[in-house]
Amino acid sequence: MDSQYLRTVLAQWASGVVVITTPAAGGGRHGMTASSFTSVALDPPLVSICVVSQGTTCRMIHDSGVFAVNMLGSDHQEIGRRFSAPASGDRFATGRWQTAATGAAVLADAVAWVDCVVAACYPAGDHTIILGLVQDAATPRPAAPLIYHDRCYHEGIAR
Ligand SMILES: Cc1cc2nc3c(=O)[nH]c(=O)nc-3n(C[C@H](O)[C@H](O)[C@H](O)COP(=O)(O)O)c2cc1C
Repeated sequence: MDSQYLRTVLAQWASGVVVITTPAAGGGRHGMTASSFTSVALDPPLVSICVVSQGTTCRMIHDSGVFAVNMLGSDHQEIGRRFSAPASGDRFATGRWQTAATGAAVLADAVAWVDCVVAACYPAGDHTIILGLVQDAATPRPAAPLIYHDRCYHEGIAR
């Protein structure tokens, strides 16, 4: 299977957009934009993310053992771009960020967020599937979600 062709095919899958965050030793924090977020189970409460194994986010989640998933609203495109661009400067400079129980950063006006401890990690090719046990969750703002389809951001439908 040609990987460029497969990317084009898979780009037809529409998804929501999240920013995954994790704290760093010494009060630092890191985060990245992702679409590979899935609810897995309610009992116990489990979610999954899938992150590139060689990336900064994967390494830092491995070190901290915790992460939060922030579901973006349709007006969060700038945050989505900032957290996916090659790291230069402070990705958290845009948006109002607070600290959840695990120490991970959560967006004050996220559509929703979940705060997790790492329950398991599964290698999957050049990515790692990380299972999170949910410690806390919130729906700060009932807004239209940000959607990613065909490599472009789109506005979801407002509730
Ligand atoms: C809409 C969108 C979704 C993305 N989803 C993922 C994802 O699920 N997993 C992943 O590893 N990278 C994903 N990326 C790419 C990362 O955001 C990007 O590589 C980022 O720079 C990684 O940050 P890091 O190197 O600091 O970990 C996505 C990018 C965009 C724009």
